Amino acid sequence: MYVCICKGVTDQQIRDEVCKEGACSMREICLKLGVASQCGKCGNHAKQILQETLENHQ
Ligand code: FES
Repeated sequence: MYVCICKGVTDQQIRDEVCKEGACSMREICLKLGVASQCGKCGNHAKQILQETLENHQ
């Protein structure tokens, strides 16, 4: 499912970034994938996915 339409980023890409690349903040996700770097509408949803993934990943 697309989370960020502007950058065409899916929830799976965010999860992979956390699990495989070790990202643990929105800043890192934003730098790597460009999430929330344009209109910003996806910010809350992306953050939610990041937090869920971090919790499940520990
Ligand atoms: S939908 Fe992510 S920046 Fe616009």
